[in-house]
Amino acid sequence: MTAQIIDGVALSKHIRAEVGRRAAALAARGTTPGLAVILVGDDPASAVYVRNKVKACQEHGLHSVLEKYDATLPEADLLARIAALNADPAIHGILVQMPVPRHVDPHKVIAAIATSKDVDGFSVHSAGALMTGLSGLRPATPYGCMKMIESTGIDLKGKHAVVIGRSNTVGKPMALLLLQANATVTVCHSGTPDLGQFTRQADVVVAAVGRRNTVTAGMVKPGAIVIDVGMNRNDEGKLCGDVDFAGVREVAGWITPVPGGVGPMTITMLLVNTLQAAEAAL
Ligand code: GUN
Repeated sequence: MTAQIIDGVALSKHIRAEVGRRAAALAARGTTPGLAVILVGDDPASAVYVRNKVKACQEHGLHSVLEKYDATLPEADLLARIAALNADPAIHGILVQMPVPRHVDPHKVIAAIATSKDVDGFSVHSAGALMTGLSGLRPATPYGCMKMIESTGIDLKGKHAVVIGRSNTVGKPMALLLLQANATVTVCHSGTPDLGQFTRQADVVVAAVGRRNTVTAGMVKPGAIVIDVGMNRNDEGKLCGDVDFAGVREVAGWITPVPGGVGPMTITMLLVNTLQAAEAAL
């Protein structure tokens, strides 16, 4: 069996068209959804990510501001900038690109962002809302993974999902979203012995550990949905995920590529969250 590809670019295009329509409807009511993106330091990968986020806003009728600061920016100054953006009515979403420099406490940064503007869904309030079944802003990457799973048309009720990774940004919220969709969920991570013993039972595998070839063909149940969140480089410097794509696509029923899978969906769901925040502020 050769898996069907879940095309993150095509799905994004569809969702972004809807984002454009919703942004236009807001504009007609006098509101332009606004996203502030803050980058502290000069990590090249982070610089690319934030540029893509700002570009996506511009392409879909959202207002965006990019604030770049030197890696030496004192934590207090960053918190003061966030406070100013919290009070700015033209800004509906605030995102501080992670990781922040070592002298800055990411928990303090996340806590400083107004709950209503937490478009990353990283705050204790947003995480708690997800855990307790309240509506709220969902972290963009797992939210995008859910949209990709939904696009297969397969109902998760009665299905077993295995999440590999336990980060606050992907693994943990991913597990909660799958649970909310009635899947039976197992969370594995970098310290799980015999990972294949778990993944071979899974109807859905979400790989988010950041280590290439974590999931290989022999670890996948025939017909499974395989979602690859990884962003790694192979020996030739080419972007690759956590899944051995060439091998696994011969076993899985559905698979996401890297690049062109989860990456574009993350940005798309950030746009959706920014719109949701702007609509809620009306
Ligand atoms: N760094 C890597 N992914 C993300 C993300 O989704 N949001 C933020 N703020 N930082 C990140």
